[in-house]
Amino acid sequence: MKALVLLLISSALISGSLGKPVFPEREKDPKFWNAWAQKTLKNALTLQDLNKNQAKNLILFLGDGMGVPTVTAARILKGQLSGQSGEETLLEMDKFPFLSLAKTYNTNSQVPDSAGTATAYLCGVKANEGTVGVSAAAVRSDCNTTEGNQVTSILKWAKDAGKSVGIVTTTRVNHATPSAAYAHSVDRDWYSDNEMPAEALQAGCKDIARQLFENIPNIDVVMGGGRKYMFPKNESDVEYPNVAKHSGTRKDGRNLVQEWITKMQNKNSHYVWNKSQLLSLNPANVEYLLGLFEPGDLPYELERNTDTDPSLTEMVDVAIKILKKNPNGFYLLVEGGRIDHGHHEGKAKQALHEAVEMDRAIGRADLLTSTHDTMTVVTADHSHVFNFGGYTVRGNTIFGLAPMLSDVDQKPFTAILYGNGPGYKIVNSARENVSTIDYQDNNYQAQAAVPLSMETHGGEDVAVFAKGPLAHLLHGVNEQNYIPHVMAYAACIGQNRDHCSTRGNGEHLHPSLAALVSLLTITRLIC
Ligand SMILES: *[C@@H]1O[C@H](CO)[C@@H](O)[C@H](O)[C@H]1NC(C)=O
Ligand SMILES: *[C@@H]1O[C@H](CO)[C@@H](O)[C@H](O)[C@H]1NC(C)=O
Ligand SMILES: *[C@@H]1O[C@H](CO)[C@@H](O)[C@H](O)[C@H]1NC(C)=O
Ligand SMILES: *[C@@H]1O[C@H](CO)[C@@H](O)[C@H](O)[C@H]1NC(C)=O
Ligand SMILES: [Zn+2]
Repeated sequence: MKALVLLLISSALISGSLGKPVFPEREKDPKFWNAWAQKTLKNALTLQDLNKNQAKNLILFLGDGMGVPTVTAARILKGQLSGQSGEETLLEMDKFPFLSLAKTYNTNSQVPDSAGTATAYLCGVKANEGTVGVSAAAVRSDCNTTEGNQVTSILKWAKDAGKSVGIVTTTRVNHATPSAAYAHSVDRDWYSDNEMPAEALQAGCKDIARQLFENIPNIDVVMGGGRKYMFPKNESDVEYPNVAKHSGTRKDGRNLVQEWITKMQNKNSHYVWNKSQLLSLNPANVEYLLGLFEPGDLPYELERNTDTDPSLTEMVDVAIKILKKNPNGFYLLVEGGRIDHGHHEGKAKQALHEAVEMDRAIGRADLLTSTHDTMTVVTADHSHVFNFGGYTVRGNTIFGLAPMLSDVDQKPFTAILYGNGPGYKIVNSARENVSTIDYQDNNYQAQAAVPLSMETHGGEDVAVFAKGPLAHLLHGVNEQNYIPHVMAYAACIGQNRDHCSTRGNGEHLHPSLAALVSLLTITRLIC
């Protein structure tokens, strides 16, 4: 019976994708919408009782390139993957009570890149494009502008305050986003010494992979890709021993993984390079974890070999279970790093499945933490020139066609389109007729207005979703570098701790009350 109902629902949705709108009968009744809105209002009224706890734990989920159109399209996709029409679906991030917009521009760029923006939302300072962990006084690729211009990240502030810290990404662990958490590099592309100019090495600049191990002592959890940058040049890869492009890259001949293993021995530390090793760990017995699952970036979720590579959700699950053992709490940076790559390739289906997977990871983190003591923020570094439109009917597959032909060339068009990118395609000196090809293929490149081998970032604001202690401070339209200031304030780390109680992880107190408490504490000590 249940199967029959499901079958009926899915066949109804298929007819929806053919152009007939499908929506539940109850939506015709005003009572349905009124009741839903009243329930939302009731929930909103409870938010007047603000959560002013001190945040013990901080989690930042960063969807690389996850602009607002990507969030909406991922929501519809997630709903459709579970048999709904999709528009009404709630993403995990949609359930966060507080929302703001972040202005993403870099100091020298109206439309930003992932390096300058990472410096903003991790180090609290806007910076030039292409640079990580240095202020805007540093010039891209100019090694000699590094010294004196380094800025530190909230991951370091958290570590200095005795918290455990972690980085989990689907890209290389030395890619732009994660690297701003630990490195100071005037060039995001200096992955290992192999990618650096000789002058920069001579002038004393260090590659980013090396800085991962040398800058902040003992980052507790690091998971992602990027193995090849850690091994000596030409040393064959453990997983792809016969593929030369996956071999080690380091010209200095160092084996950073072996150095880490040696340094961390007797500290309940584990290095893993595949999924079965990761999932066989008991997080209760692990203090330090280094997981490098691919020589470069991890594969797209749609192409992942589920026997060898963990999903983002699986990595986040293990990371939080390890980090949360610290009674002082933790800071965790999670990057859904390949949403951006899917868009750059014009492959909207890859990008949106990456976004849905990050949303699953947000759900897993929710199960493992409490809003009582954990502040979680979900945002993007920047947007893309990705969009969807065309008056599609309710329940239309997100990868489907608009329900009309162009009134200019009389051809169909997909709802998803890019402003520029590799999907620009002329066939017989005219726009391609998408009905002659499989526009629902995983690697279909949606049409773009301007031909470019790589689709570009977008310049509009991105959403910042927040929940947990002091999440309401993320409201309105703000500069992107405001984010770590709020998170640090909520956790009483970094600068600006005057508001913090002397009792550690307790409730926030009014400053004068806090002064009274400390006076009483001192008095008690004296007596
Ligand atoms: C820094 O290096 C660049 C070359 O990379 C050079 O042109 C410049 O003069 C140097 N500046 C200083 C202050 O040494
Ligand atoms: C690595 O291999 C290339 C190609 O075989 C060779 O030219 C290069 O000298 C090797 N480098 C090292 C450090 O072994
Ligand atoms: C995972 O790594 C372990 C340890 O090196 C190895 O024994 C195992 O075969 C690997 N599994 C896969 C699927 O590669
Ligand atoms: C587009 O392709 C479809 C499917 O082959 C065809 O029915 C339609 O006539 C084509 N439209 C134009 C304008 O060529
Ligand atoms: Zn990008």
